[in-house]
Formats: sequence, C-alpha cells, structure tokens
Amino acid sequence: MFTDSAPATPRHVAFIMDGNGRWARQRRLPRAAGHVKGAAQVRTVIEHCAQRGVQAVTLYAFSTENWARPANEVGALMALFARYLQNEIADMQRNGVQLRVIGDRSVFSESLQQAISQAEAATAGANRLVLQLAVNYGGRAELLGAMQRWLQANPGAEPAALTEAALAQYLFSPDLPAPDLLVRTAGERRLSNFLLWQTAYTELYFTDTLWPDFDAKALDAALAWFAGRVRRFGKTTEQVLNAAA
Ligand code: IPE
Ligand code: IPE
Ligand code: MG
Repeated sequence: MFTDSAPATPRHVAFIMDGNGRWARQRRLPRAAGHVKGAAQVRTVIEHCAQRGVQAVTLYAFSTENWARPANEVGALMALFARYLQNEIADMQRNGVQLRVIGDRSVFSESLQQAISQAEAATAGANRLVLQLAVNYGGRAELLGAMQRWLQANPGAEPAALTEAALAQYLFSPDLPAPDLLVRTAGERRLSNFLLWQTAYTELYFTDTLWPDFDAKALDAALAWFAGRVRRFGKTTEQVLNAAA
C-alpha cells in the first residue's frame, strides 16, 4: 500500500510522545491527567498526518523501561491503552486507519491481548494510514527477538547467512518503510530505546513542546523542517541535487 510520495512529505513519521508528566505538573494535576490529555492528542495528530499525506505513523506509548514507574502510573497507562482500543476502533475503521501494536504483548492480561488482536483484525483492511502503537516496546528487545527467530528458522546456518535484509524480515512490520522523520516532544534529545534499527537514516526533530500541547500547528512546523532537509544517505550533496534535477 505504500506509494512513493514527494520527497518533501515523509511517508512514515515516528513520535516519542514525551512530556505528559511535566504538562500535568505545570497544572498541579496528577501525572495520570497528563496521560489522559496526551492520549486525546493522538487523534488530532493522526488525522492531521493523514491529511498531509503521511502513510504510516508509529507512536511510542510505553517502553520496556516504563515498567519501572510507580505501579499506579503503570496501571493508569495500561487502563488508558485498553480504553483507547475500545473507543477508537470504530473511528479508525471510518477513517481508514489500520492499527498495529508492536512490542511484547505476551505479558499483558488475556483480555488485553484479545482486545489488541480484535482491534487489529477489525482494521486490517484499512489502507489510508497505518498506525503502529509501540507498547511494551524496546528497540533492543525487538532486535534480540528478531535474531532469535531467525536462528530458530535457520538452525545450523552459516553466520554470514544472517544478512541485514534477512534480519529485517524478522522485525515487527517488515513491510513498513523506515521512518523518514522522528519527532520527540518535551525537549529531551535521545531515542530511549525506540526503533534502533529503523532510525539509521531517519531525520530527527526535537521540540520543547510537551506532547499534550502538540497540535496540528506543531506538526506542520515539524513537517516544514523535514521538507528542508537534504537526505544524502552517504552520498555528496551534489550527487543528490543532480539526481533530483
Ligand atoms: C510520556 O510522558 C508518556 C510515557 C512515557 C508513557 P512522560 O510521562 O514521560 O512525561 P514526563 O517526561 O514525565 O514529563
Ligand atoms: C520514552 O519516554 C518512552 C515513551 C514516550 C513511551 P520516557 O519519558 O520514558 O524516556 P526517558 O526515561 O526520559 O528517556
Ligand atoms: Mg518522559
């Protein structure tokens, strides 16, 4: 379903949705209130991405490291995720959004795992935009899992048989193009274990705006910044500009 888009428009945008806690603290609200507002913001961002011609969006919702947070916050985040699956599926179907959940879901409750599978099945036919939610996701865990699954599928293979292309087939969503643009909100400039393999040539955009405040205007600023990048992929600027002329 992925078509070549004008190089000025990213096909795939990944978001590290950070700053919910700080947004709540600024308002003297509990951290969970920041997560609720952050989750509400997701709908705006997805719809605006679709309108701008973005074909895939990956949202970092919960990292493998986030289990270290206080139990009540982890519980609030999991409840929010479950509610999101329940409330948004009909809208996703209407708006052509195909949902995929990436990360290790095996640790979730049976009912949550079922809700995930049902949501994925219900939206599998949609092809306006792929929405990947990264929940209990870690880039290192994804790579390790891919290597383990490759070894299982190729017992006794020569190490040289494990090529980049072969390994990539064992990552989550091998059919998705790598993110062209990664946006991290709330001022931090790090990947925090997100999409370590896929971001090798991704343009990285950092903004101080907190995720619950990240709206259509903020997204347009990120897209405008992206449109001004020259992506060389190792070549010289002259090579790239001549090829585009
Ligand atoms: C991002 O907001 C949401 C998750 C990591 C689940 P934070 O909760 O990390 O917000 P800050 O960084 O404390 O402001
Ligand atoms: C990254 O945010 C994870 C998500 C947005 C889900 P964190 O707030 O957990 O990242 P660190 O701990 O500041 O690196
Ligand atoms: Mg944070």
